[in-house]
Formats: sequence, structure tokens, C-alpha cells
Amino acid sequence: MKQRSTFGSKLGTLAVVGGSAVGLGNIWKFPYVAGNNGGGAFVIIYIVICFVIALPLMMSEFAIGRSTRSNPIGAVKKLTPQKGWTLMGYASIIASLMILPFYSVIAGWSLEFLKDSLVGGFAGKSAADVALMFEGFVSSGWQPIWWMLGFLVVCCLIVALGIEKGIERYSKVLMPLLVVMLVALAVYSSTLDGFRQSAEFLFKPDFSKIDGPAVVHALGQAFFSMSLGMGSMITYGSYIKKQDKLSTIAGTVAVADVVIALLAGMAIFPAVFSFGISPTSGPDLVFITLPTLFGQMAWGSVISVVFFVLLLFAAMTSVFSMLEVIILYFIEEFHVSRPVASGGAFVIIAGLGILCALSQVPGSSLTVGGQSWFDIFDNLSANIVLPLGGLTTILFAGWVMKKNVLRDQFTENGAYGLKSYSLLKFLIKFVIPVAIAVMFLSLAGLIRW
Ligand code: TRP
Repeated sequence: MKQRSTFGSKLGTLAVVGGSAVGLGNIWKFPYVAGNNGGGAFVIIYIVICFVIALPLMMSEFAIGRSTRSNPIGAVKKLTPQKGWTLMGYASIIASLMILPFYSVIAGWSLEFLKDSLVGGFAGKSAADVALMFEGFVSSGWQPIWWMLGFLVVCCLIVALGIEKGIERYSKVLMPLLVVMLVALAVYSSTLDGFRQSAEFLFKPDFSKIDGPAVVHALGQAFFSMSLGMGSMITYGSYIKKQDKLSTIAGTVAVADVVIALLAGMAIFPAVFSFGISPTSGPDLVFITLPTLFGQMAWGSVISVVFFVLLLFAAMTSVFSMLEVIILYFIEEFHVSRPVASGGAFVIIAGLGILCALSQVPGSSLTVGGQSWFDIFDNLSANIVLPLGGLTTILFAGWVMKKNVLRDQFTENGAYGLKSYSLLKFLIKFVIPVAIAVMFLSLAGLIRW
């Protein structure tokens, strides 16, 4: 049988897995979610959740993938004879098909804004002008679609090249560039007047601002940001080399993901505060508030080009990981070639992406209960599908799959880390499932605190 591919190097593995984690979730979503939930105290809870809940879940997903060297559905089939659990595998395909379309549409927006930045289109514009530009663009229907399609074609072509020659090769270039650009932006931001205020906003906790919904948002955000609950990390886990420690990879990626989200916050909020804008301006922060500020700042057009390239790269490497879930499933379960699988994935996601984009045109009939398909995919995936995926995965890892798989994967057959393994197992069996279940109950309004 043909040898199954693995990542080429440790650094490559970190770039690929880190590339999956670091995405629109860090740069577009984290700042506004933190802003909406009161800042400092939310950030602390978020960080705790990332390390106590998300990190062990990430390691469990890696273990499921690496022990079976399979796509999420094949992996579940190999780890338990109970048929019902394959539903978990199918759920991951469905989740990818829900996230990819709206994610690609947003990535397409960053291309439009990159174009606008290149021609200096934001110079001297008021927030109302930029809002009009943005709304005009989104509601034009086809314009966002062309950008989305262009973005998706490039991503599918890269993934079609394979793991080492495609995903890994490009991530190894895109991720370092991303970090350099983000650090440069954060350094620039530190010279703005609002720097102190934004450091206080992000790091000075005020626990009176924390309520049940804030904790639920922190959990949903942590799953989204660390690419969990959807099989991405099972799929990537199946390519991790046998000798690499899962704890090192997951730990490094978790730290990088948190640091980059905070850096993004530190790059964005000073400008927000310097110009006296509320940090709670929501999803518009990146596409209306920021461009307005860029248009009024010294060096604004250069900075805005850097920012939107950054957003684009972050989105690309995350999309690779979602595409790979679908593509590996097509390859392994239907025995098609990688290029055919990539083409098939492109057609399906492009179709759903068009649906999402068109559903945002004012007066569109592509809505259900008053919500556009775009919003349905966005909300349903972050609030229900991913946490549910996370819950089933952690229950599967802790209680269902063959004994010793977790131990062997986490400790290299008992060679190291047995003490931390006991702690991890306790978290995986008890603490994490209960925490996620409590979150669901509170989402459903059954508990309030
Ligand atoms: N983590 C990415 C981000 O922060 C998005 C992402 C990639 C993702 N793969 C995923 C989210 C799998 C959930 C599940 O933007």
C-alpha cells in the first residue's frame, strides 16, 4: 500500500496547525467579542478556557487522528464498533460545509478592502461614508461573490497540491509573514494615544461585567479560534509524525493562538480608543471602524494594505484545514484522486458561498425566520455545532474509544508524561464534558447565573 503522507518537519507541523488556529477568529472576531463582553475579565476567562478545556480537546482530536491515520469518519469507524458514533464524523463534514461558505465570503471582503486600500480609497472618509461603501459592496450581490470565488479557487488549488507540497509549503511562508506584519502593526499601535486605554481595557479585569452569556461566548470563541469540534484537528492529527509530542504541538499552538488574538486586540483597540469609538462596535469593527481610522491616520494606506493582507493570509491557512476535512473524506471514503476531491469540494462550497453572499442582499428571499443564510451558518456553527462537536468528541475520547489509545498517544506508550496524563484524563472524562454541557443548558435558558 502507498505510504500515507505525514507533515514534513516539526516546524512545518506547527505552521500548518497554527495556521489553522490563527484566522479570522483571532483578528476579526476576537476583538469584537472581547469588546462586547466587557474586556479584561472576559479575556482572563477566555485564556483559562483555552488551556483547561480547549487544549486537552485539541490533544484528543490529534490522538483520534494519529492513532487511526484516517479522516474523521474513518477514524471513528476504526475506534469503535458502535455505528452511532459515525454520526460524529458526518457532523464534522456538515460543520465544515457550514463554516467554509461564510468564512470564504468574509475572506473575499478582505480582498475588496485590500483593493480599496491599494487605491487609497479610505482617505478622508467618514465612518458613515465607509459604512455606505461596505453596505453598497455587500448588497451588490455579485461583487462579493467574485472575490469569494477567487479566494476559494486559490485555496483549493493549494490544497490540491497535497499536504507537504501544498498546505505545508504555503503555511511555512504565510504564517511567519503574518506574525511579522501583526507585530509591526502592534508596535505602530503602541505609539498611538489610545494605547494605555486599550491595554487597560484588555488586561484590567472587572469581574462585575461577567455573566453566564459571557462565559458561553468565551467557550464558543475558544472552540472556533482553536479549530475544535469539527474534525479539522482530527484530520491534521492524522498527518502528525509518530515521534512528535502531541502536548508540545497543541501547547505551542494554544499559546500562539492566544497571543495572536491579544496582539490583534492590541493592534486594533488603540486606534479605536484614540478616535473615541466604542469598543463594542461589533463585527463592523474590522470592516467599517478600522478602514475609517486608516483613512485618517498618517501612513494609513500603507497600514491598511498590511492589515488586509494579514487578514487574507490568516483566512487562507484556516480554510486549508477546513477544506482538508472534506477533501480527505472524499479521497479515503470514495477513493477519488486529490485533484478531483478538491474540485468537488470547490463546487459544493462555491454553491453554498453564493447562497450566503446573495442572502445578504437587502430584500433577499434567501432567509429563514428573518435570518439570512449567512447569519444562520455563522450563528449555528459557533453556538451549536462546534460545542456539540466538541462535546461528542471529548465523550468519545474519554469514554468510548478503545482503551489505551489516549494513553499511548499522549505518553508515547508510557515513555513520558504519565503524571500529566492522569490530570488530562480527569479533565477529559469529567471536567470538560460537564463544562460544555453546562454551557448548553445555559444557552437553552435552563440555567442562569
Ligand atoms: N480557527 C480558525 C479561526 O480562528 C477557523 C477554523 C479553521 C475553524 N478550522 C476550523 C473553526 C475548524 C472551527 C473548526 O479563524
